[in-house]
Amino acid sequence: MKKLFERRFHRVPEVICFAPGRVNLIGEHTDYNGGYVFPCAIHLGIRCAAAKRTDRELHFYSENCREVGERAYSLDALSNQGLWSDYPAGVVRAFEAFGYSLRQGADFVFFGDLPEGAGLSSSAALEVATGVALRELFEIPVTQQEIAILGQFAENRFIGVNCGIMDQFASAMGKSGNAVLLNANTLSFQYAPLWNAALVIVNSGVRHSLASSAYNDRRRECETACKELGTPALCTLTTAEFEERKHLITDDICRRRARHAVYENIRVLEAVTRLKAGDLSGFGQLMNASHASLRDDYAVSCEELDFLAETAQKLDGVYGARMTGGGFGGCTVNLIAQSAVENFVKSIQTAYQSRFGVIPAIYPVTICDGAGVKHDDI
Ligand code: GLA
Repeated sequence: MKKLFERRFHRVPEVICFAPGRVNLIGEHTDYNGGYVFPCAIHLGIRCAAAKRTDRELHFYSENCREVGERAYSLDALSNQGLWSDYPAGVVRAFEAFGYSLRQGADFVFFGDLPEGAGLSSSAALEVATGVALRELFEIPVTQQEIAILGQFAENRFIGVNCGIMDQFASAMGKSGNAVLLNANTLSFQYAPLWNAALVIVNSGVRHSLASSAYNDRRRECETACKELGTPALCTLTTAEFEERKHLITDDICRRRARHAVYENIRVLEAVTRLKAGDLSGFGQLMNASHASLRDDYAVSCEELDFLAETAQKLDGVYGARMTGGGFGGCTVNLIAQSAVENFVKSIQTAYQSRFGVIPAIYPVTICDGAGVKHDDI
């Protein structure tokens, strides 16, 4: 990162930091419904090197998007350019909106090893890396949790994707070897270790390009259900309350969206109880049930993800498999006994290739800490 920065901006960076991507184990499309999620930060992520400038410009360069070169924004007129660099620019805007105005601009270099558009939160990692860099460069007194909130603000207000807090929270607050049970309503959280199980991510290669509009549609459908049920958030309901009142939802599609949110939220708590008791198979069964609900009720899966999850669920040593993230493409997450990983990789690659003609990328992941400064790299 130091070399990349020097080559581009002809001086040394003042800070180098890293923000991880995330994989969600269970609790999908529950965060914006006021429910629980259970993600963890992974070793794949985005690095950022930065240094202040003397003028009021922001320059962003990504080694992953070399072809678009360096993008410049003015602190005095931050506007959306329809490019990747809107994410870090949006974070600067978020800092300003929260009262942390920058005295001067800065130069940034980013480099990531997260597959983009694969549902592993490359955008949240970009936002959180920017937040950490800004905090360090300008000595802004923000906590990790506030950086997550600022990242979400940037995505909601500057980019226009109405996402919840899960991705930014996992990237900022992750803990090595643990997943984090987050109450997205109150932001209270606790960590739970994943024992000795392996986490393997399989990339369907289907990019979730339609995701942002379809994502916002799902949110609207949930809001409609909330209004008709007379509840502020779907995940405040128990399953019994939902069953009693579901007839109040007039539209069948909205009723199915609501059913997913209510049952998924309960599944998260049950899954974490089982995990804490060391019952990996019980945890895995709930992952499988989550996939079925996302496929049938929430309708955010696709043929490739269904194939990957269903093939994995039948393999020896696989506790559970499901699509992860917003959906419409992207990845599956698989919880597997360590001894079964090699066979899993081979079987999935062969099966996927014979069905879809391509070998899927497979990433065994390490669960790592949330974002921070990387002293070693300077
Ligand atoms: C995306 C959003 C998250 C969450 C998931 C679905 O990743 O950014 O806030 O809603 O989709 O669980």
